[in-house]
Amino acid sequence: MPGRFSRRNFARLAGLAGFSMVSPAAAKDSRTSAANEKSAPASFPDGFVWGTATSAYQIEGAVHEDGRGPSIWDTFSHTPGKIDDNTNADRANDHYHRYKEDVGLIKQLGAKAYRFSIAWPRVFPNGDGAPNPKGLDFYNRLIDELLARGIEPYATLYHWDLPQSLQDRVGGWRSSDTSKAFGDYSGYVTERLSDRVRNFFTINECGRFLNFGYGWGIDAPGLKLPTGELNQARHNVVLGHGFAVQAIRAHARAGTRVGLAENIAACVPAIDTPEHVRAAEIAMRELNSGVLGVILEGKYTEGYLDYAGKDAPKFNAEELMIIGSKIDFVGLNIYTPQCYIEPKDKGAGFHILPFPASFPHMQSKWLLIAPETAYWAPRLTAKIWNVDTIYISENGTSSDDKIAADGKVYDLDRIMYLRNYLMQLQRAIADGAPVRGYFLWSLMDNFEWIWGFEQRFGLYHVDFQTLERLPKLSAEFYRNVIATNAVSS
Ligand code: BGC
Repeated sequence: MPGRFSRRNFARLAGLAGFSMVSPAAAKDSRTSAANEKSAPASFPDGFVWGTATSAYQIEGAVHEDGRGPSIWDTFSHTPGKIDDNTNADRANDHYHRYKEDVGLIKQLGAKAYRFSIAWPRVFPNGDGAPNPKGLDFYNRLIDELLARGIEPYATLYHWDLPQSLQDRVGGWRSSDTSKAFGDYSGYVTERLSDRVRNFFTINECGRFLNFGYGWGIDAPGLKLPTGELNQARHNVVLGHGFAVQAIRAHARAGTRVGLAENIAACVPAIDTPEHVRAAEIAMRELNSGVLGVILEGKYTEGYLDYAGKDAPKFNAEELMIIGSKIDFVGLNIYTPQCYIEPKDKGAGFHILPFPASFPHMQSKWLLIAPETAYWAPRLTAKIWNVDTIYISENGTSSDDKIAADGKVYDLDRIMYLRNYLMQLQRAIADGAPVRGYFLWSLMDNFEWIWGFEQRFGLYHVDFQTLERLPKLSAEFYRNVIATNAVSS
């Protein structure tokens, strides 16, 4: 019969055959000894911060409520042809009204921390000028709810939703007026929230929103700037970060901690030899000079400026000092490596290897599966810039995430991905990487930017018709990781 010896049938038969050959007592013995031989789970340090992450535009909805001004993402997502499934985040997860339920979801995971972002256009509808107290009130309510349930808030001040007014009036990040406005907004917010929020991320993923939004034109605001102008916009963004750090030091409570969350261009040594590791270290410093490097060193590398040549950003010493203001931690968003590296005798000392077309990826094609990124990115970051506090500010994956006939979501590929990345992260910590916490992206499915609602990154499935939230199998996996403070293969 065709299909009679399908793989599944074969496995079933083989299993039965195996069972019949072993006596029940022997089977029990071998199970017990196998259990005894199991290697210890990979434990994380005591006090390790387990959390989840989201961002304002991706979940809040309520875009016209309580005086919120429009952002560049409202404009962009309403422009025909920009979002794959022609959706926008006008309603998204309606988190603005359901935040209590969502805090309950975090609680159910046993997570001790939550990273969310504050929508700048809720607080300053025009980006600068008159604040809108009702906008900040939402975050007061959210923070109070988190604290009441024993969850520590980690707030991001900018996750890409620039007030449209700043885009229209000054050209957004093309102008250092936006950098200054960001500093003022950051001082205003942290003065009012730092009695309850101890950790602030200034900006999320400068690298991504600049390249996608100002270089390739596929994210808001949809610009395709020539290289020189793109480099200048990047400089304005890191300057904005610097102004924000200074404003936070000036206005927030003493002891408030500040850092940023960057999608570091992670360079992985192709082979673990001292020469490859050294080459990856050189590459990672050079490839990140435009954002993380200049922030942590207070200067661009010669390699970065030489490579940019006439397109290098214009800057002065005072700006470099502002950009290099001391921060308390570095957040790394880890999904996929930028490149694999081998050593090279000539030139810069490294060679970027091409990815073979067959390199495996998750449901999102860009998300190449490379768990060792979670090992090398924090280790090399700590080494290159002498960083003593790192958070993995994002890590996660999309998955097909269909609801099965029994009403459950068996996202085994997400569990496989998380398990492998977490194993490598644990190894990095065991080898000395100063990683203090991990924020899984994302708490729940949400508006995945240019992919609309088609790519689901959540631990909770969201039905975007009914807005019902449903835990996936990965939520149970993560709950177990948190409860045991360990991951096992
Ligand atoms: C961003 C998130 C995004 C996630 C998955 C990160 O680049 O910070 O906003 O949803 O990756 O693509």
